[in-house]
Amino acid sequence: MSRATAELTEEALLAAIKACPLPRHAAIIMDGNGRWARGRGLPRIAGHREGVKAAREIVRAAGRLGLGYLTLYAFSSENWSRPAGEVEFLMGLLESSIDRELPELIESNVRLRVIGRLEALAPSVRRGVERALEATRANSGLTLVIALNYGARRELVEAIRALARRVAAGELAPEAIDEARLAEHLDTRGVPDPDLLIRTSGEMRISNFLLWQIAYTELWVTPTLWPDFSPRDLYQAIADFQQRSRRFGGV
Ligand code: IPE
Ligand code: IPE
Ligand code: MG
Repeated sequence: MSRATAELTEEALLAAIKACPLPRHAAIIMDGNGRWARGRGLPRIAGHREGVKAAREIVRAAGRLGLGYLTLYAFSSENWSRPAGEVEFLMGLLESSIDRELPELIESNVRLRVIGRLEALAPSVRRGVERALEATRANSGLTLVIALNYGARRELVEAIRALARRVAAGELAPEAIDEARLAEHLDTRGVPDPDLLIRTSGEMRISNFLLWQIAYTELWVTPTLWPDFSPRDLYQAIADFQQRSRRFGGV
């Protein structure tokens, strides 16, 4: 954290980062709900419930900031390996949260996108997500991308499979496959690569998130657990991002 900005009030920090170029796209690995709950002697699900509140505040903060894209990692393809009760709770929470937040998302001109395998979710969760996608389709403010049953390796395998099918059908020459063509077949098609990737709870890993898209993303890790992550933390991450020198291999 840079010392100069650490002392600013939230409002002053917001004004300061708004005066500089913002990342177009920030992505967040929202981690640490379970540890937040354990630290309070509560069941893990209490942490997830609190995590939803943090997510709501961060979406609002991204709107105030005028961010173009915000991606939130909500459930990974590996998270199915958790105890059935926790998975069930997370799915229910997801369904009810999308339902509850939808009016505000519409009102604040947020456009929802989902990446990940929706097909594998329970029909009621899928229907809720599809309803929210439809209801926000025409919005032109923040694009909120929720990674839901998302795994980057699966995403890449499916993209390669789709390209292979087109080659086999004679529609596409292997030489015509380039980075842009591959990116068009990813779940994130049309979404710019994240400039900034935030991970809470101090873990220094990517956990199968956006492997292709983060080739040159700036990483920012905080020990803060997700339920404690506040708009101020988001603004601080962006202030630090704005101090970085992005060289992309140049000098
Ligand atoms: C992140 O918090 C939420 C999800 C992965 C769904 P965790 O549940 O991973 O919390 P920790 O990492 O166990 O503390
Ligand atoms: C990453 O967190 C996935 C989400 C935040 C949804 P995990 O808690 O699942 O990651 P690992 O297990 O620490 O790698
Ligand atoms: Mg975790």
